[in-house]
Amino acid sequence: MEKAWRFAVVTMSDKGSRGERLDESGAFLRQFLTQAGFTEAGYRLVPDRVEAIVEAVYAMIDLGADLVITSGGTGLAPSDVTPEAMDRVFQREVPGIAEMLRLESLKKTPMAALSRGRAGVRGESLIINLPGSLKAARENIAAALPILDHALAKIKGDPSDCGQG
Ligand code: MTE
Repeated sequence: MEKAWRFAVVTMSDKGSRGERLDESGAFLRQFLTQAGFTEAGYRLVPDRVEAIVEAVYAMIDLGADLVITSGGTGLAPSDVTPEAMDRVFQREVPGIAEMLRLESLKKTPMAALSRGRAGVRGESLIINLPGSLKAARENIAAALPILDHALAKIKGDPSDCGQG
């Protein structure tokens, strides 16, 4: 990586936010991104509610996170509202990142079709929704990792030509 980007993880879990379940995917994502050379800017565990999700992502951006990874709440349960919350977060959607994650995930499980996770940009921050299980978090962040540095550099205005991809 050219730069030590700052990341934040926001986990959506009603049970987790009540202290009834450990945030395994959040813990894994924080460790994974730190080991990949990112610097942690913040972490939140919030209930599956649009207002709480939007506020947490805004707070992470205010703390200087270049990258906000969300975990959970992307599925079809009535409580899954992470994609809806992104309507209030994204200024520009990046559909290709979500398409890539689903494509790679479908190689692991057909259940990947049930994640409605999205990706987008707010200001100079990239936000990516991942499904919430530890397995899904592991598979999805591994799939996302190769594009993160270039995506973040472009968001920050890197004027260099894209001749490497
Ligand atoms: N993607 C990968 N790579 N691996 C998985 O195990 N699980 C799926 C899907 N995406 C999965 C995955 C399942 S079972 C569900 S229900 C959806 O993600 C939504 O998960 P979420 O509601 O925790 O966000």
